[in-house]
Amino acid sequence: MAVQPSAETAETYRTEAVPSADRWWRDAVIYQVYPRSFADGDGDGIGDLTGVRDRLPYLAELGVDALWFSPWYASPQADAGYDVADYRRIDPAFGTLEQAEALIAEAHALGLKIIVDVVPNHVSDRHAWFQEAVAAGPGAEARGLFWFRPGRGEDGELPPNDWQSVFGGPAWTRTANPDGTPGEWYLHLFAPEQPDLNWNNSKVREEHESVLRFWFDRGADGVRIDSATMPAKDPELPDFDPAAPPVPHPYIDRDDVHGIYRAWRALAEGYERPRALIGEVWLADPVRFAHYLRPDEMHSAFNFDYLNCPWDAADLRRVIDATLAAHASVGAPASWVLSNHDVTRHVTRYGRADTSFGLALRQHQVPTDLALGTRRARAALLLDLALPGGCYLYQGEELGLWEVEDIPDALRQDPIFHRTGGLDIGRDGCRVPLPWSGSRPPFGFSPEGAAAEPWLPQPAAWAAYTAQAQDGVPGSMLTFYRTALGLRRAEPGLRGDAFGWLDGHPAGVLAFARGDGFACLANLSGTAVPLPAGAEVVLASDPGFDPAAGRVPDDTTVWLRTR
Ligand code: NOJ
Repeated sequence: MAVQPSAETAETYRTEAVPSADRWWRDAVIYQVYPRSFADGDGDGIGDLTGVRDRLPYLAELGVDALWFSPWYASPQADAGYDVADYRRIDPAFGTLEQAEALIAEAHALGLKIIVDVVPNHVSDRHAWFQEAVAAGPGAEARGLFWFRPGRGEDGELPPNDWQSVFGGPAWTRTANPDGTPGEWYLHLFAPEQPDLNWNNSKVREEHESVLRFWFDRGADGVRIDSATMPAKDPELPDFDPAAPPVPHPYIDRDDVHGIYRAWRALAEGYERPRALIGEVWLADPVRFAHYLRPDEMHSAFNFDYLNCPWDAADLRRVIDATLAAHASVGAPASWVLSNHDVTRHVTRYGRADTSFGLALRQHQVPTDLALGTRRARAALLLDLALPGGCYLYQGEELGLWEVEDIPDALRQDPIFHRTGGLDIGRDGCRVPLPWSGSRPPFGFSPEGAAAEPWLPQPAAWAAYTAQAQDGVPGSMLTFYRTALGLRRAEPGLRGDAFGWLDGHPAGVLAFARGDGFACLANLSGTAVPLPAGAEVVLASDPGFDPAAGRVPDDTTVWLRTR
């Protein structure tokens, strides 16, 4: 697919004046911390900032450059914090603002940058704005911050349009008038506890810019922007057929959404040390995707095409080529991502017959070979880390954790599970609290003698996967991540954009050169392939790899020095 740079964007990029040390996001490895599942400092079974602060040295030693925190703000947790009630307070379950400030300072002292999450599409139904809007009644100015509409039907008993929530069920919920009679409906593209904001209202824009400043002033090095394609809506709120959506779509990727990010970019660049904007942009069209990364918009966006891609050499090569072309067209760095808090962990995915991922078609309890998935996950890491651009890691992947598929229904918390009546199993399985040490749950997630159990149950088999059990053990996933991240950081050939496919290898092999004689070869061919003659093996994903054998086994990636 050809993605041409526009003369304007390419030119703007060339003249970009930000010094390279300040453009750290271009090749950073960013580790996602999901606070409620990372580490519990106070023993209530829920992860918190104390738990993270205690383990910052672990993260620094792992060798990542930055930490992205899923929302830590005050929230009723209807969607695990993606329902923000107050951006300027930390949720009491996680800690205090003072602790967040201390965490940022401590992370900085260890050389780790901090990314916080912002959720422009919606707030919590407990946010002061929404409470005020409901209390104020129809026609009130406060309602203009959201999408309130009268219902259809004789008594307004039908939703204003036919839009469906991403989490299942209608995207509208009816309110009661202040006098208790049935009233207007409000739009929520996610759960009813997440009313959508109206970005045509200047107060919404001003408030978010103030929130960005609040966190940038406290040292945050960037923001991850939630559901970034969705804040702009067609003000007519028309019905549409989701099987054949109109162009432009009534709420996904509308042209006017870009104005939000242009303003944020200008704000971010107003800081002496420019701050990074990282978008959650789920879009299949690479040209539309790249629009979010134009030089006056975001700096980086998650590469979900890569995450969704099956473990197949031809498919991966196609996605890598498309990714590099799309990003080059706007001068933005590519990114590589395999897991996050919304998707099935890749150890599980890669052990299945169908190794692809689709949000709409989440597979559950289909057979998986975890040993195979683990082998491929190791190979995938070396592939990702060798590609030009940045990488996003999800907490626990460095321990080789898999999706926990047998959580009892009664313990499941994800609104997706509940709103689809269990049709979609949801995301709890990738959110299970991390195992740190010991031989029994809570595996050091909570302190000794904690009052409560971890908020989701941990598999007994994780005894062999704790950080402690893997620490310093040759061949463990943790040792492998530390080694790979350390080598990547030290390797000059992995900086910059140099990249070229090396052809002449058997089908099913991905081989490419980076700078300074550094090359990467990933073998997905189903059989062992010859090790390129004269190449020195820097690192192999297979813990039993023997360079003397002169062959690269299947599902193995090797880093090579070719001169
Ligand atoms: C994307 C987030 O990653 C997900 O966890 C959340 O449920 C939705 N946006 C809604 O905020």
